[in-house]
Amino acid sequence: MLRTIANTLSSGSLPTRAFSRTTLSAGKPVAQITSRAYGRLCSIFYQLDKPDASPESLDYYTSQAKKAGGRILEPMCGTGRYLVPIAEEGYNITGFDASREMLQKCRKRCVETGTNPSLSVASFETFLTKHQFSLVFIPTSSFSLLTTLEKVSRSLKVIRKCLEPQGRFIFEVDTLTSRDQPEMNWRNRSVRLDNHSKINLHSASVFSPVSRIQRTFCNYKLKVNGKTIAEENEYLDVRLYQPGELLPLLTEHRFKVLNQLAPYSKEQPIAGAETLLYECQRND
Ligand SMILES: C[S@@+](CC[C@H](N)C(=O)[O-])C[C@H]1O[C@@H](n2cnc3c(N)ncnc32)[C@H](O)[C@@H]1O
Repeated sequence: MLRTIANTLSSGSLPTRAFSRTTLSAGKPVAQITSRAYGRLCSIFYQLDKPDASPESLDYYTSQAKKAGGRILEPMCGTGRYLVPIAEEGYNITGFDASREMLQKCRKRCVETGTNPSLSVASFETFLTKHQFSLVFIPTSSFSLLTTLEKVSRSLKVIRKCLEPQGRFIFEVDTLTSRDQPEMNWRNRSVRLDNHSKINLHSASVFSPVSRIQRTFCNYKLKVNGKTIAEENEYLDVRLYQPGELLPLLTEHRFKVLNQLAPYSKEQPIAGAETLLYECQRND
């Protein structure tokens, strides 16, 4: 359960909805309540909560980068937990992400490590490149954040278009096994910024068996000396899949599915896995 995207507790559908606005009795804002997904508080929380990719997953994607031997693209690269270490290994990698704040953290990490990958704030609707890639990869089940057939089809079209002939597309999705309990249970977590400040996250999920979408409500509060000075609300929509469900769509978009596995080994059974990994190849 811990490595599924719902547990990254960040929103993927990138809505811009204002939930409410709180003011001090004196009229000064006490809490700036915004609901931009992967906004400021969410990205600070994400960076502190998940600073690094797991060694197992990073080894897997680094070995795929080595196998690819050409340009690499990581859509939805976030804070660069995969992109930066792979760039540090000397691979030619490009990344894009729809959240300016997440990408800002990625850029800072690039400066700290002396790496210089090509990065842009973009979604699948706006990403532009003149290059073709030998590997496109989307880890951490971020692909599940594309919750409509239209968005999934659009992204597959873009990825297919920017792959070299025989190029590989590797991505992960969350499965129905990872769904939360039918009743909403609120959870509390927090990360510390320093001795005086922390961000509290209050969240709960609800799963719809009809749409197969799990929605997680997230409330982030930045507390300084116990006082809330900023607040952010978002919700995370994640499409959960069952094994095999994506195969017809991948075929329709002219991808050959080489493997469908429980990350990151062919030895593990896919039945009951909370995440599925697809290794695909552009089918010419
Ligand atoms: C769970 S994070 C994963 C980031 C990174 N792969 C990692 O493992 O840390 C998902 C990322 O997808 C981005 N995202 C969500 N929807 C997107 C879209 N339609 N286009 C581009 N990026 C998107 C978010 O801004 C966020 O940074």
